Amino acid sequence: MPKDNLIVGLDVGTTKVSICVGNFQEGIANIIAACHKPNSGMRKGTVADIEETVSAISAALDDAERTTGTSLSRAVVGISGSHIVSTDSKGVIAVSRADGEITQSDVERVLEAARAIALPTNQEIIHVIPKNYIIDGQGGIKEPVGMSGIRLEVEAHVIGGTTSAIKNLSKCVFQAGLEIADIVFSPLATSKALLSKKQKEIGVLLVDFGAGTTSLAAYEEGEVIGAAVLPVGCMHITNDIAIGLRTSLETAEKIKIKEATAAVNKVGEKEVVNLNDYDPADDQKIPKKYLAQIVEARLDEIFNMIREKLRLWNKEGMLPAGIVFTGGGSKLNGLVDAAKEKLRLPAQVGSPFLEISGMVDKIDNPIYATSVGLLLWAMQQKTTSFTNTAGLKNIGNILDRTKNFFKQFLP
Ligand SMILES: Nc1ncnc2c1ncn2[C@@H]1O[C@H](COP(=O)(O)OP(=O)(O)OP(=O)(O)O)[C@@H](O)[C@H]1O
Ligand SMILES: [Mg+2]
Repeated sequence: MPKDNLIVGLDVGTTKVSICVGNFQEGIANIIAACHKPNSGMRKGTVADIEETVSAISAALDDAERTTGTSLSRAVVGISGSHIVSTDSKGVIAVSRADGEITQSDVERVLEAARAIALPTNQEIIHVIPKNYIIDGQGGIKEPVGMSGIRLEVEAHVIGGTTSAIKNLSKCVFQAGLEIADIVFSPLATSKALLSKKQKEIGVLLVDFGAGTTSLAAYEEGEVIGAAVLPVGCMHITNDIAIGLRTSLETAEKIKIKEATAAVNKVGEKEVVNLNDYDPADDQKIPKKYLAQIVEARLDEIFNMIREKLRLWNKEGMLPAGIVFTGGGSKLNGLVDAAKEKLRLPAQVGSPFLEISGMVDKIDNPIYATSVGLLLWAMQQKTTSFTNTAGLKNIGNILDRTKNFFKQFLP
């Protein structure tokens, strides 16, 4: 098995660390290892306990190294959490060449200009994603290099995060023995695995329904038009069930997975959940409808927050390719139908659509959606979106290293 050019996609989630290892053969991602381990060091997608997080990353890495039979040294790392901010920005420059031909260096300068937005001092930019270039007032240009003009503008989408959250995650990755090839806002990577070009073109919303967070990335005309991380996830449903049924969190989690549904109307009045099946010390019998109502109340809150974001992006009820769910919460019974009804959009659970070889069946699981996406990110990366590492001590110049790292995969 080829051991060189191995890429590690590392997703550090609230409840689990997921790692995918692969390489690219003739433009196809070949997955040779996929592992995950529980993580208890995060709260709502952000590092809360460095030691616990390092130990979860190390455990998953050990597994991946055993499977691949090699030592793994660098990873493309996903970042999420409610500290993430996203906003539109613009950049303008004068084209440098006397003959007016636009070069790659002009494009890099105009993207740099788009970075100059006022972020609070404790935040920094993670991505500058160009949506549209404008040359001498004429817009709708996707690839300006080689065209001629005097003035080059870019309309971009900027994603940033809190410096301390980025630093803490980086620290955990370093302490687990990995270098960072790039830091990527997780839903952008997940979208690479789950969304087709066509869906992104006509308009789609990725919803990663995780444990502590629900992350969103909306696309239209092939580009990101909005991104957000909501500080509520599927774990909150477990908490609500524990409170509502007066059970332990462990019992509530089992009941959520086995018995809960978001489809209140489909539950018969006489259906009951026998808590004794989950906890020998508990002999309550609970109407299944009551359980469904608990789920529905929390989902309604999350759907309202999603609707608010869509409204902010002027896309409420307007993304024809609808919602693609992933994350552990996407397995919740009745979720898709509830989303269709409440958000009035088509909805489905996502599954990797790209041609992938190796452990294809294993990675068709929301546990691996982000880590596979991070691998694909490495494959499809262009220099137009990159990590700003200015505030990250000890990391060195990731930008340069990242560019060199990706060069080996680019055609
Ligand atoms: N079959 C199922 N039905 C309902 N919920 C499920 C099911 N399987 C997993 N979950 C829930 O999915 C959540 C875990 O999802 P996931 O692994 O995507 O989270 P994470 O990546 O650790 O968290 P985050 O992305 O918020 O940082 C847990 O709350 C778990 O209870
Ligand atoms: Mg997650």
